[in-house]
Amino acid sequence: KFEEQQILLGGIKDYMQEIRRCRRLLFIACGTSYHSAIATRQLLEELTELPVMVDLASDFLDRSTPVFRDDVCFFISQSGETADTLLALRYCKQHGALIVGVTNTVGSTICRESHCGVHINAGPEIGVASTKAYTSQFISLVMFGLMMSEDRISKQARRREIIEGLKQLPDQIKEVLEMDDQINALARELYQQDSFLVMGRGYNYATCLEGALKIKELTYMHSEGILAGELKHGPLALIDKKMPVMMIVTRDPVFRKCWNALEQVKARKGDPIVICTKGDTETIEKASTALQVPPCVDALQGILTVIPLQLLSMHIATLKGCDVDCPRNLAKSVTVE
Ligand code: G6P
Repeated sequence: KFEEQQILLGGIKDYMQEIRRCRRLLFIACGTSYHSAIATRQLLEELTELPVMVDLASDFLDRSTPVFRDDVCFFISQSGETADTLLALRYCKQHGALIVGVTNTVGSTICRESHCGVHINAGPEIGVASTKAYTSQFISLVMFGLMMSEDRISKQARRREIIEGLKQLPDQIKEVLEMDDQINALARELYQQDSFLVMGRGYNYATCLEGALKIKELTYMHSEGILAGELKHGPLALIDKKMPVMMIVTRDPVFRKCWNALEQVKARKGDPIVICTKGDTETIEKASTALQVPPCVDALQGILTVIPLQLLSMHIATLKGCDVDCPRNLAKSVTVE
């Protein structure tokens, strides 16, 4: 309820007391679902003040990670059937942790084997590459953070800001979708390239990983999501005037740091396309192409910045004659280890 600043996730409400008492939150998933946990980790750390671990299910199992009875483990899965995620769930259950499923498929195995959970209600997702499930997982995890911080006086102002931000999102998403023609034109410039780098940091890091994943899944082009803070530790060697680069430079707490990265890339003759905050002339002037997204609260920015990349990958794939719904070698639901 927006007016009362009240957030209720029915599937976990009876477990909230137990969840609030936990010592650590673990988020385990594969692919796009994993990125939704990366996207919300910072906010969850801020709102819960708990240690938050985010892991890829396969790696989590390979490491036989220590899990304790006072841990709460979230398993995020669109299909609810991903084998690695399910095996990690069973492993954590054996260790006595509370299991929370975040799925899009009612009655799926992960749903059934969880103690409690959240249905993200994104509607059936047909395309192999996940899109609407990602943004819905993102919002569900934000809502969980809001529930966790409900009775903390010190978090009220931040909660209000985020709830207000959520209210504005549907219109802002529509505005981003209206950039489709501009993004299609960009796809025409890019579709014959071999490589595409996506850089950003802070709340937008997940968008880099998820955007690059969409590009590789749909277009078969080499694409990497790069944390801008790591630029000097390797990726800068890839930059020259031919390397296609996209940089996400929005008005948020890491804006200056991103700007610095932008200048580093430009100094190596790179010509990055930027995703920036609408009306930010300082950044727009720096780039030959700027995709402007409406300003929104920092922690939700990732929803608006991922959409241009989802659209771009679709347009590039179409121009290359690739099957957008069923990319080669991939399956919607990976039920083998
Ligand atoms: C497959 C799909 C991806 C998806 C991943 C995790 O690799 O092709 O789109 O992100 O599985 O799937 P899940 O259903 O567990 O979210």
